[in-house]
Amino acid sequence: MRMQNKCAVITGAASGIGARAAVRLAAEGAKCFLMDVNAEGLDATKKQIEQAGGSAVACACDVSDEEAVRAAIEQAAAVFSRIDILVNVAGVQVTKLLTDTTKGDYDRMMDINVGGTFLTMRYVLPLMKAQGSGAIVNCASELAFVGYHELAVYTATKGAMVSLTRSVALEAIPFGVRVNCVCPGATDTPIFWEGETDPDKRRKLLDQVAVEKPIGRLITTDEVANGILFLASDEASGVVGASLIIDGGFTAQ
Ligand SMILES: NC(=O)c1ccc[n+]([C@@H]2O[C@H](COP(=O)([O-])OP(=O)(O)OC[C@H]3O[C@@H](n4cnc5c(N)ncnc54)[C@H](O)[C@@H]3O)[C@@H](O)[C@H]2O)c1
Repeated sequence: MRMQNKCAVITGAASGIGARAAVRLAAEGAKCFLMDVNAEGLDATKKQIEQAGGSAVACACDVSDEEAVRAAIEQAAAVFSRIDILVNVAGVQVTKLLTDTTKGDYDRMMDINVGGTFLTMRYVLPLMKAQGSGAIVNCASELAFVGYHELAVYTATKGAMVSLTRSVALEAIPFGVRVNCVCPGATDTPIFWEGETDPDKRRKLLDQVAVEKPIGRLITTDEVANGILFLASDEASGVVGASLIIDGGFTAQ
């Protein structure tokens, strides 16, 4: 098992990419500390990990709340006595024209996507620096590299996450800590579907994906988790400040 004896903190672990990354890290032997605002979803991920024989602690936490993040990381460090891996997946997307986007929408996306990633790194990095090892994987997006209709602020948060990743990587690597990010394309999770339940509208969305994306389909959460596991593992020992694009060719066009 690739992650034997490793202790991992995963945000956004109640759903989608974060939940899948946590389950996969646990299956590789990591002890997982799961953070998310969705307590019910966290319990489901924890149960899934435990039923497969893994180990997990659930911590309901809003990653945009500094005091909550500080306390959660303190708890993770106390439970595990070390943190080897931090995976920042918690995120939100508000799909609107810029002219319809409110300052509240802007603050929410910035505070959770960029701010949450900043805060968890702010409190985990000193521990990793002190232990002289660690791997941080942030979840940006293919939309860090291209513009997209009705997603101006969301794309800006993802661009900021790529920049944050690069600069923190430079600060961390002298201490043996690697910081990288994955940049998924449209992935089959609730954020992509945005609550759409109508089968006809869902089919239209898939048709649009088939036209827009060279791979012709949605990316799976396992495909993104594969990238996260690689960057978190010692197999990526030479990879620092990188953006691993997992988008089925969208940004290659
Ligand atoms: N699905 C896609 O198409 C896609 C593509 C590229 C990037 N991403 C990114 O992947 C990440 C994960 O999204 P997903 O696709 O798994 O969607 P998702 O909605 O299934 O997961 C997002 C998770 O973040 C949690 N979250 C939201 N606000 C939070 C907060 N303040 N504090 C803690 N947790 C919070 C949610 O409760 C949820 O569990 C996001 O950062 C998203 O921007 C998704």
